[in-house]
Amino acid sequence: MNIKTICIIGAGLMGQQLSLVAAQAGFKVYCVDTSSEALKKAQEFVAGWMPKQKAKGKLTDEQIEHITKNLHFVNSLEEAAKNADMVIEAAIENLAIKRSIFAQLDKIAPPHAILATNSSYLVSSKIADATSRPDKVLNMHFFNPALMMKTVEVVQGPHVSDDTVAKVMEVARAFGKNPALVKREIYGFLCNRIFSVLTKEACYLLDQGIASIEDIDTAVKGAFGHPMGPFELLDMTGIDLEYHLGMERFRETGSLADRPSPSLTERFGKGDYGRKTGKGYYNYQK
Ligand SMILES: NC(=O)c1ccc[n+]([C@@H]2O[C@H](COP(=O)([O-])OP(=O)(O)OC[C@H]3O[C@@H](n4cnc5c(N)ncnc54)[C@H](O)[C@@H]3O)[C@@H](O)[C@H]2O)c1
Repeated sequence: MNIKTICIIGAGLMGQQLSLVAAQAGFKVYCVDTSSEALKKAQEFVAGWMPKQKAKGKLTDEQIEHITKNLHFVNSLEEAAKNADMVIEAAIENLAIKRSIFAQLDKIAPPHAILATNSSYLVSSKIADATSRPDKVLNMHFFNPALMMKTVEVVQGPHVSDDTVAKVMEVARAFGKNPALVKREIYGFLCNRIFSVLTKEACYLLDQGIASIEDIDTAVKGAFGHPMGPFELLDMTGIDLEYHLGMERFRETGSLADRPSPSLTERFGKGDYGRKTGKGYYNYQK
């Protein structure tokens, strides 16, 4: 494979784990974030994760050595992307910010570099025209926690070349994932479309006072064999993310049905984003 160096944009929930996924698979990785706090947290996560994996027999000394030597957290986009063969953007879910990042990347990354976005819902054709290489811009959508979840959706928009898709599928397999090719662009791709039907209905039932958070989660887990209920999942993936997604969709369609639900909006307003802030639908501070 001629992809050796990968740049990850964003060291948040997804970016820090994606950096490890790539480094563990033997790639050289540069992870960049505009927030020094996020970079520090990511480095702490990596430092804590490696010994635990070793103790479980899931990481060899050789892999630890490779990760330590080849995973870099930096605060300069220039430094992170200038030698990249591929970039995976995992910054905040906001179209204007993603377009601005891709326009900058187009100037910094080598001309052959593939520019992928890990966006949960936004199709790459909304971003690709911010660059001069739309044939190399596509969605590569991972799931949270990225170190564990095997599915990756690779989305081939009309502007994406077959060669780019083939290379990205190969990278996903090298990461130890099971890529699913989404042959046409559709908002939310496969899994988030299905997930949003479930969470939207769960929020509606809660907002209408039909059942409690706990009872809805328990019922869904028991009835469908899901390991987590919809509210537990929202707390894990991030209430802020779900709120931004809903607002982005609402701005696009103008349909009230797409607006984030009252229970989600209330928590977003209070800064209760779920596990990452210690409180969301559930309280994790105890
Ligand atoms: N959370 C999930 O479950 C999940 C799952 C799949 C995909 N995603 C997608 O991954 C992306 C990241 O989500 P997350 O949950 O990791 O968010 P997060 O808020 O945890 O992290 C985002 C990071 O991006 C950084 N950032 C913002 N602007 C930046 C810029 N211009 N350059 C570099 N860094 C910048 C922020 O400082 C933050 O650390 C989003 O597009 C989201 O839709 C999230």
